[in-house]
Amino acid sequence: MNKPKILVARAIFPETLARLQQHFDVQANQADESWPAARLIEKLQGKVGALTTGGDRIDGAVLAACPALRICANMAVGYNNFDVEAMTARGVLATNAPDVLTETTADFGFALLMAAARRMSEGEHFLRAGKWNTWRYDMFAGVDVHGTTLGILGMGRIGQGIAKRGAHGFGMKVIYHNRSRLDAALESECKARYVSKEELLRGADHLVLVLPYSAASHHAIGAGELALMKPTATLINIARGGIVDDAALAQALREKRIAAAGLDVFEGEPRVHPDLLTVPNVVLTPHIASATMPTRLAMANLAADNLIGFLTQNKPLTPLNPAVLTIK
Ligand code: GLV
Repeated sequence: MNKPKILVARAIFPETLARLQQHFDVQANQADESWPAARLIEKLQGKVGALTTGGDRIDGAVLAACPALRICANMAVGYNNFDVEAMTARGVLATNAPDVLTETTADFGFALLMAAARRMSEGEHFLRAGKWNTWRYDMFAGVDVHGTTLGILGMGRIGQGIAKRGAHGFGMKVIYHNRSRLDAALESECKARYVSKEELLRGADHLVLVLPYSAASHHAIGAGELALMKPTATLINIARGGIVDDAALAQALREKRIAAAGLDVFEGEPRVHPDLLTVPNVVLTPHIASATMPTRLAMANLAADNLIGFLTQNKPLTPLNPAVLTIK
C-alpha cells in the first residue's frame, strides 16, 4: 500500500525523520533551505501533511494552492504563522507543540532578565574589546533582581514558570496582567497578583512579555507604554516580534527612559532593527528560548506524533482547531 505523502519543511532530528518515514512517504529538507511561499507551495503539492516551523506561513493562498493538505503540525508553541480560521474553513488540522518547552523557555526568559539587569552583554563586549584595565566603583553597575517586582504580561504556562522562578527562587513580588485572570489556586502557586496593564507597566522593576502575537497584541508595548515604565526597569521579550515596537524601544533605551532590555524575538526577524544593534543596554539573542537539545527533540517528536496520530488514527495530540476532526 502506498504510504501517505508528507513534507518536512525544515531540517529536523534524524531520529524524528526516521520515525516519520516508518509511516509516511516523506519529502524532507535536511539541507535546511529556506523556501519562499511559491517554493513551499510547490513542495506541498500532493502532500497530505506537513511538519512546519514558525517561519512557514500557512494562509488562505497556500491552502487554496494545496488542496490535498489535511494537517500542518507546527514545531513551535506559537502559531501566528498559521491562519487557523482559513485552515478550519478548508478542513485542514492545525497542531502546535505546547508544554514540552515550558520550563526550558521559562529558564531562558529568566536568563535574559538577569543578563539585562546585570549588564552581562555590555560587560562581555567591553572585556573582549580589550578595554578592561582597571576597577571602578560603578563599572557596569546594573539593577537588582532579587527582592524586586517582577511583572508578567501574558500569564500562560511559560509566564507561570517565570513567576515561580521569580517568587520562589529570587523572593520577587510578582504582578501580572492577562486576558483572563488565573484561578486562585494558580495565583497562589505562582504567588502572583493580578493587576491592570497600566499598574503592571508602572509597578514592574522587570517586565517579561510572554503573550501570543495577534492583531490585538501588535505593538502592545510602544512609546506610550514605555513612557509609563520606571527609568530603572528592564523589559524582556521572549514572546514574538511585533508585540514590541522595536524602533520605540531602541529610542527609549538610548535615552535611558528604561534601564535595559533583553530580546529574543524581533519585528521582521531574522532582520533586527538597526537601532537596536547600536544601543548598548540591550541583550540580543536569535530566537533561541526553547533551544536545548532535549526540548527541541521533544518539540520535533510532538509535531511528528501529531502527524502520525492524525493521519493514522484521526487522533492528534495537540489540535488547535479540533472542529476539523468531526468534519467528514
Ligand atoms: C517559539 O517561539 C515557539 O513558539 O515555540
